[in-house]
Amino acid sequence: MAFTIKSPSDIEGMRTACRLASEVLDLLTEHVVPGVSTERLDQIAHEHIVQVQKAIPAPLNYAPPGYVPYPKSICTSVNHQICHGIPNERPLKNGDIVNIDITVIKDGWHGDTSRMFVVGEGSIAAKRLCSITYDAMWRGIAKVKPGARLGDIGHAIQTFAEGLGFSVVREFCGHGIGQKFHEEPQVLHYGRPGTLEELVPGMTFTIEPMINAGRREIRELGDGWTIVTKDRSLSAQWEHTVLVTDNGFEVLTLSAGSPPPPAFVGSAA
Ligand code: MF3
Ligand code: CO
Ligand code: CO
Repeated sequence: MAFTIKSPSDIEGMRTACRLASEVLDLLTEHVVPGVSTERLDQIAHEHIVQVQKAIPAPLNYAPPGYVPYPKSICTSVNHQICHGIPNERPLKNGDIVNIDITVIKDGWHGDTSRMFVVGEGSIAAKRLCSITYDAMWRGIAKVKPGARLGDIGHAIQTFAEGLGFSVVREFCGHGIGQKFHEEPQVLHYGRPGTLEELVPGMTFTIEPMINAGRREIRELGDGWTIVTKDRSLSAQWEHTVLVTDNGFEVLTLSAGSPPPPAFVGSAA
């Protein structure tokens, strides 16, 4: 078994870190308006994480093998940017869509979550992409229970998104999370039911599908981090950190401002 199983006290640590990450998104929500720069959003988030939450912004200086250290405290991916967008001084404009991805470390535990924000008034197409990507994430989450397999999650996301004419990014995936930012297993957002690792209670991992309006191919920008769609079509992403429980799942990255689950997710979940 390559992945870590969290004990009840580990899970308490995860719950706290994950709630804090989600609360940073709550805090940022009112600031995501036309004219604000993503650098300003980074400053607001950094201050809150460090001064108020007494936590650590995990992205800052994060440097996996082969990467230059990430220079900011949050990721902001605008329009055709898929993920890992670096905050900068450019103002957001009416109609932009932006993914804000927050990872905090509290007492050694990581919480990782992202949401889409529509700046001002978005187009119907942009709003639809964001909403379908949210549902795609939840299609995956709804599969989580002991005995299910990682392939079930990927398959649910892929068939849902592709069935609506969207494409699923392959190069980046969800991941185990805990005392490390990125642990095993990899959680692919495509796949075949009944394949890959079996889920067992105490696993914690993220589900974070990246869905493109156009083709699935990606390109990396020269900054060493930002990933964009090759065809420059819009891309959206949502992310939760989840725990496998004895009879299903618990979404750990919830807070007062989290959007409710889609209707297809039974309230028993
Ligand atoms: N939060 C991202 C994820 O969901 C990872 C960002 S790595 C960073 O896995 F260095 F860009 F922050
Ligand atoms: Co993640
Ligand atoms: Co993330």
